Amino acid sequence: MRSTILRAAGAIALAACVALPALAQPSTAPAPADLAKEQQQRQLAQPGNNSPVWKEVRSGVPQTTSLPGRETNVLIQPEGQTWRALRVPIATAGGALLALVLLALMGYYAWRGPIGLHGTPTGRQIERFTPAKRMAHWAMGISFAVLGVTGLVVTFGKSILLPLIGYTLFSWLATLSKSLHNFLGPVFAVALLVFIVLFIKDNIPRGHDAQWLAKFGGMLDRSGKTHVASGKFNAGEKALFWILVVVLSIVLVVTGLVLNFPNFDQTRATMQTMNLIHMIVGLIATAMACFHIYLGTVGMQGALEAMRYGYVDEQWAKEHHEYWYNDVMAGKVPRGSEPPAPAGVQHRPA
Ligand code: HEM
Repeated sequence: MRSTILRAAGAIALAACVALPALAQPSTAPAPADLAKEQQQRQLAQPGNNSPVWKEVRSGVPQTTSLPGRETNVLIQPEGQTWRALRVPIATAGGALLALVLLALMGYYAWRGPIGLHGTPTGRQIERFTPAKRMAHWAMGISFAVLGVTGLVVTFGKSILLPLIGYTLFSWLATLSKSLHNFLGPVFAVALLVFIVLFIKDNIPRGHDAQWLAKFGGMLDRSGKTHVASGKFNAGEKALFWILVVVLSIVLVVTGLVLNFPNFDQTRATMQTMNLIHMIVGLIATAMACFHIYLGTVGMQGALEAMRYGYVDEQWAKEHHEYWYNDVMAGKVPRGSEPPAPAGVQHRPA
């Protein structure tokens, strides 16, 4: 009996709150007193069923409030439910994609091993990346990698890490990840723009890129005998540049900045949409970056040295980027500055 009275009182209070705006609007809506009475009767007839109240709260009809600001008169924002419901399947699909990519890379490494050189290194070095290009690449690459890892902690941490490491450690990790993610986003945005400006010229598609694509650069030939010549960057690297760097990363930066700075009067619905796009694109971009980081580290001998020190052996250039090598030898493209003494980076032959 007591609980029925309490529930009825609660319903009256809620109905009164929701009905208040009706006072300000000359409309055909029932008077607050009638609404309250209706609610009271409903609670007696169907205890616990507040559906008309919630229908009105979620109807999107603007309410009144003394708080200034956008959407402060919206008690419940219905799109929020859709956003919350969509996050789960998106995260699950993204997680499955990442797991598949990691398995595929492990399988590829087991099957093919690192791609090495066939000939003997000459010991003569060609400059592949100037210090400015290397700095732009590392600023972009490292900030991307940290954003990727912290983004994964934010997305999957609660379901995967929390049961393993417990509340105390997970709370530290989640707080650190969130802050790093928020602060590194703008750093990535700047590095990305510099990178695009410095690298765009060498990534313009050329006719010979089609040959590389048709044979997938010989990547699927285990013997390594399929040789496909390419310019300074091959078609795979160019695809990475245009898809991952230009399209996906710019979408990530734009959506990320909308989420990072909510003080530009954007609505919650806008931020939810941006959040879903950011999540989908972030998971695809991370999966794509895994392929690149694999090839740039353990997957291909000599590639990482190019990005670390800026130089490659002539033999490496000839086997992996023959048109570029030919242009350098013919003097059509500058050989770059001399390597610092003692010269060189040792490339291990395959
Ligand atoms: C943090 C780990 C990373 C490592 C170890 C790494 C390694 C490398 C290496 C070794 C190269 C030189 C390849 C060559 O000489 O042809 C390279 C080039 C490149 N990297 Fe990375 N990278 C990393 C992250 C990233 C990320 C996150 C992106 C994109 C968001 C990226 C985009 C590129 C592009 C576009 C090129 C040049 C190829 C071109 O301009 O077409 N890298 N990277």
